[in-house]
Amino acid sequence: MLACFKTKFLNPAWLLVVILAQVMLLPLVGGAMINSPSGADSQVPALMPFPASIELTQDKFRIDEKFSAGGQEQPGGRVFKAVARFMFRLSGRTGLFLEQDFLADQAPGPKRSLSYQYEKTGRLIPNEDESYILEISDNRIELRAPTDLGILRGLETLLQLLSADDRGYYFPCGRIEDRPRFTWRGLLIDSCRHFMPLEVIKRNLLAMAAVKLNVLHWHLSEDQGFRVESRTFPELHRLGSDGLYYTQDQIREIIQFASDLGIRVMPEFDIPGHSTSWFVGYPEYASAPGPYRLERGFGVFHPVFNPAHPGTYKFFDRFFREMSSLFPDPYLHIGGDEVEAVHWKENPRIQAFMKKHNLADNHALQAYFNKEILRILTKYKKKMVGWDEIYQPGLPKDIVIQSWRGTQALIDGARRGYQGLLSNGYYIDLCETAERHYLNDPIPPDSQLTEEEKKLILGGEATMWAELVSPETVDSRIWPRTAAIAERLWSPQEVREVNDMYRRLSVISVQLEENGVQHLRNQDLMLRRLAGNSPVNPAEMAALKTLVRISEPVKGYARHSQGRKYTSLAPLTRFVDSCFPESLEAREINRLAEAYVSGRTHQDWKKLKATFDELAAASLLVSSLSGRIPVLREVGPLADNLKELVSIGSRSLSHLASKTKPGPGWLKNQKNRLEEIKKPRAECQLAVIPAVEKLLAALEDKPN
Ligand code: ACM
Repeated sequence: MLACFKTKFLNPAWLLVVILAQVMLLPLVGGAMINSPSGADSQVPALMPFPASIELTQDKFRIDEKFSAGGQEQPGGRVFKAVARFMFRLSGRTGLFLEQDFLADQAPGPKRSLSYQYEKTGRLIPNEDESYILEISDNRIELRAPTDLGILRGLETLLQLLSADDRGYYFPCGRIEDRPRFTWRGLLIDSCRHFMPLEVIKRNLLAMAAVKLNVLHWHLSEDQGFRVESRTFPELHRLGSDGLYYTQDQIREIIQFASDLGIRVMPEFDIPGHSTSWFVGYPEYASAPGPYRLERGFGVFHPVFNPAHPGTYKFFDRFFREMSSLFPDPYLHIGGDEVEAVHWKENPRIQAFMKKHNLADNHALQAYFNKEILRILTKYKKKMVGWDEIYQPGLPKDIVIQSWRGTQALIDGARRGYQGLLSNGYYIDLCETAERHYLNDPIPPDSQLTEEEKKLILGGEATMWAELVSPETVDSRIWPRTAAIAERLWSPQEVREVNDMYRRLSVISVQLEENGVQHLRNQDLMLRRLAGNSPVNPAEMAALKTLVRISEPVKGYARHSQGRKYTSLAPLTRFVDSCFPESLEAREINRLAEAYVSGRTHQDWKKLKATFDELAAASLLVSSLSGRIPVLREVGPLADNLKELVSIGSRSLSHLASKTKPGPGWLKNQKNRLEEIKKPRAECQLAVIPAVEKLLAALEDKPN
């Protein structure tokens, strides 16, 4: 056994340094070679979320076809099934024909390679114990946890540890002690703006489990659709969904599926605003007479429940009684965001009601409504969750406020004694970088909260709002970036080295597809469809792929102001939809330019020049394609921009190599051209612009 090193709450990059140092000292000991997109080989398995405490040695547990697992299942436990899934995935990754019949036999025994042990079945509630200890020696693996949930989390870590060398597959020996930093680590899926079929939910639950997320926040009612079968009020799903809703049996199926993975399912019924779909079948509870039709556009709309009508609360009493028994989670989300008061103002009965009850403004009226809803939820033993806007003084302290408007709102809530969740900064629909989400901490170091107040911040949720995603593209908007958010919510606060996060993220991204999510593979499918029936040769397809891989959709809400009106019926099959929200390839090219500018090595120069040449060739081929294929016509100007961009890049490289200064005015002209090139085309932006900007800046600073 070689010297053991220990990291506690260590930055993974440090771990990399320590392991590399060991390998350099001991060249005969092979390590796992994991290729990152940067080309840097790493000896550290790509763990994500990174564990709280990890010690690894140079020893190896070798995996062969005799690999087996066993342990004692407690009543109601989830581990037997989880280990079966683990074994399937292990054999799938390694190609090994495992001898154990893991679907039928996991009895404990001294000869089992992997032995698991836990004390009790975990409950799916906040603050349940999810910790585990994983010990790997060269002939045995032990996984121990207080609850089965810890075993599930540990199994995911073990799979991520899988490594290979010239002798075969192995797990590195060592010890991991792990526990989450936050108890509430969620993903919101909006099934309303675009309906997400059952298989989309299931594959995303599996991917969530792989990165230790534990709450599916299911957004089930919106202006554009009401997505749950209601037996009490059947016109809700019958008239409010275009026939696209989940039956109660399907809901139960998802809840069971999630429970097997140690994931809670919290439903959201967004009221009193965002509620058009309810009124198609039940206009009598709205503040204006109607009639109502399903909303197809996106934004904030006027339809709103009538808080002054006693029938509204009778309706919600029966509705929440039904939904409370359908969804076992102790929490129920009532939305409460973005209430438009136009119909309240226009309704004289509502105005009279406000006067009578001394409700000074619309916020007070919404507060009245919330109190009534809270009374109903409490009767059905549910705790209330809502967006920032539900806050009002006097609410009981067991509600949870989910902050979408800012971290400060969350901190202010905690100071007042309210539990909170952070979603501001985790809006994955906005196509921001993983880095931006990753560095967004629910408790920033300068928060000045007391230890007691910090405990009120339960965690956070990534939000997959579905205005601009379809079942085909939704996975690529969730993954892999949500894995970085999962790490922020699970790992120690000090784990925040961005380059190492990206190194691990690119490995995890590929592994995630093993769970069925299609974030990588659907891009090819979409490009094939775009090429359609036209004769497209392989070089042209490759060029189209090159362009797509260095382009990103415009950020934030900008797609809604590019000249097209999006609705839930609009196609989401265009070039922009096939782009990833963040181009990891472009990031590497930008990093290469940075490395060249600071180090000026010929090797980096050559790589960068070759990259520019490849992009220039691709831009020409795509230009030609865009002239022949109608659906790609909009991409022509983007390809032309790329051609010009890399031409500026190549000329800058020539100047930098020959240490010559460009002629007067050239730099200024190129910078002006870059401003033009930055303007979106086909709702996309070229993600490699920073590389050329760096070269221009270097020329400006010091050409030689
Ligand atoms: C929200 O984004 N309106 C919660």
